[in-house]
Amino acid sequence: MKIAVIGGGSTYTPELLEGFFSLWQRLKPLKVSLYDINEEKLKIISEFLKRMIKKSNTEIEFSATLGLEEALKDADFIISQIRIGGLSARLQDESIPLKFGLLGQETTGPGGFANALRTIPVVLDIAKKIEKISPNAWLINFTNPSGIITETLSRYTKVKVLGLCNVAINLQNDLSSLLNVPMDDIFLDCFGLNHLTFTKRVFVRGKDVTEEVFKKIKEQVSRRISKKDKKIVETIKMFPNYYLQYYYFREEKIKELKKKPRRAKEVEKIEKILLKLYQDPDLNEKPKELSQRGGALYSTAAVNLISHLTGLQKGFQIINITNRGAISDLPEDSVVEMPVFIEKDRVQRCIIGKLPLEVRGTIQAVKAYEQLTIEAAVECSYRKALMALTQHPLVSSLTLAEKVLSKLIEANKKYFPKLS
Ligand code: G6P
Repeated sequence: MKIAVIGGGSTYTPELLEGFFSLWQRLKPLKVSLYDINEEKLKIISEFLKRMIKKSNTEIEFSATLGLEEALKDADFIISQIRIGGLSARLQDESIPLKFGLLGQETTGPGGFANALRTIPVVLDIAKKIEKISPNAWLINFTNPSGIITETLSRYTKVKVLGLCNVAINLQNDLSSLLNVPMDDIFLDCFGLNHLTFTKRVFVRGKDVTEEVFKKIKEQVSRRISKKDKKIVETIKMFPNYYLQYYYFREEKIKELKKKPRRAKEVEKIEKILLKLYQDPDLNEKPKELSQRGGALYSTAAVNLISHLTGLQKGFQIINITNRGAISDLPEDSVVEMPVFIEKDRVQRCIIGKLPLEVRGTIQAVKAYEQLTIEAAVECSYRKALMALTQHPLVSSLTLAEKVLSKLIEANKKYFPKLS
């Protein structure tokens, strides 16, 4: 089996490789090929990964390349984890909206919009190569904004794509500590969009433990379960994705973000430290410093998905996938985040039905924003881009949308499609 990693030069890749060690035991022989456009980073990561593989006593056949075609050739799985424009573009996404009193965040609101406009043309180009070179491979998309990118690929290409995010698996992990049960025993009955999900019920080995969890959350606040999450739980009676803070506590979050250094700046520092560590010839396992990044457990999520799709195990997983009527209040062709049951190549959606009234408006508005953003990028439409931002719940103003869009276009000249 072969796994290709697009954006393999990311400092996150050692975490991914660690997950592949357990796959190797069950799927050998296993080839892993990294592709990146940044030669320097790719080299540093590759040398480090080779040491990790040696230490692991596995026989993973490893390669790294600056040629996408080479990485894609014979791939069974392709993992996409790219960031167009790197951290300097992320810094703009997090800074420009704040100047207008809007949310500056890399995946949510106008920052996520700019990220999408930069990324859509690139992933569509990559998809053309996948269609030609490895049409039967599964593409596992982590590239942000993950829901928007997965929907773009589902609507406009023939690539077999599923989107993943680490938020659901982290909630599962947190609840596993809260309830003192193994993570795999937990099932989350959740629905929504990427970074905008709600968990209605929690089950442990089929038993509904929602009320117990509500009670425990009421009693404690932890690193993961913040006061804001607690308040949301008490009000809407569902467990929120932590990105919901940006919607439900908008003013407070914007104030907080203005006071702090931008996350892109912090990540830049962490990356420097990581790259230095990775160059240490004596280092042969994932350093603890990597946990300062936000991607915890993304490797476990990817390995679970590969295990499900190859038939090594069957079970439920929360993924981003085309709706096809599972959520009746959202377009059929739109991508939603929800649990599915996977048994080899068969991916069965759970039926969610109608969205609860309390959250229906927000989800529908964000879905409309997402679809307009995709269409703006594909059709190079300024009007759709403007309307996407105008009706986003975190903007809701044509005047502000016009101002922020003009600055985002200026800052992203090199990357945005030519909007007219
Ligand atoms: C979580 C989110 C990702 C996001 C990441 C940011 O994992 O689910 O979508 O990219 O956090 O982490 P960072 O360390 O880059 O701020």
